[in-house]
Amino acid sequence: MQTVRHFETPSDGKLTPDMVSAFHADGFLVLENFAGKDEIATLRAAIDRLVAGFDPESVRTIFSTSERSHAADRYFQESGDKISFFFEAGAFDDHGELIADKDQALNKIGHNLHDLDSDFDHFFRQEKLARISTGLGLKDPGLVQSMVIFKQPKIGGEVGMHQDATFLSTEPVSVTGFWLALEDADETNGCLLALPGGHKGALKERFHYQEQDLIMENLAETDWPEDQLVPLCAPAGTLVILHGKVPHGSAPNTSERSRQAVTLHVVDRAATWLEDNWLRRAEDMPVKGFE
Ligand code: FE2
Repeated sequence: MQTVRHFETPSDGKLTPDMVSAFHADGFLVLENFAGKDEIATLRAAIDRLVAGFDPESVRTIFSTSERSHAADRYFQESGDKISFFFEAGAFDDHGELIADKDQALNKIGHNLHDLDSDFDHFFRQEKLARISTGLGLKDPGLVQSMVIFKQPKIGGEVGMHQDATFLSTEPVSVTGFWLALEDADETNGCLLALPGGHKGALKERFHYQEQDLIMENLAETDWPEDQLVPLCAPAGTLVILHGKVPHGSAPNTSERSRQAVTLHVVDRAATWLEDNWLRRAEDMPVKGFE
């Protein structure tokens, strides 16, 4: 198995040629100490505040009734420009009651924290991240999607292998994922797994609208050999950058330790955004850059 190179984050965000070539060779780049303890504490407090202000009753019928799939689909479809809350599968019992406290049953929050929450706005729109984006070749970066990903102890589910360009498509492919560990992530609590060099292959699928419905369209038969995946272990504060076509996912969290992360997805506004993408924003909420 290939060993994963870890780099120290340049304090001014100026990537070295070594870092840029590692990203182009592997399709990912691991930058340790991107965020300091204070920044992590601020983000975690922001997440606690969002969860405290969220009433699960407001979405109970969406996720627990017999009409579940239709209502849940719509809740997801409308979440591109909102702060919406998503539960782990099986978080509600047959009577529509949560089987655990809300803060133990959430899977993620998304998909627009970066415009709507001042702590996330401030963290993601920092000069260092803007520099890293342009250092990786994004000419006119646009911040399109952000999430909190919980990975709760024992129940945090698997995220299947995928390419981010399946979900956020531009022509040519430009989406770049920034994944920040808020807690230590390793193989016991479901760290990221990725296929080194896999971004050089084809885009396997596209998830997009076909009239009113979202479909997963198969584009290529591609094999992602499981025995070639590498774990991207990430101490808290580490930023993992993912090329839009690098296959990645994560195992379930079977440990007693939580594995919280936040993500930001950036596309190049110099590329063409495909209008049938699942993520839609109100007309008065255009995609903004880092400035
Ligand atoms: Fe992803």
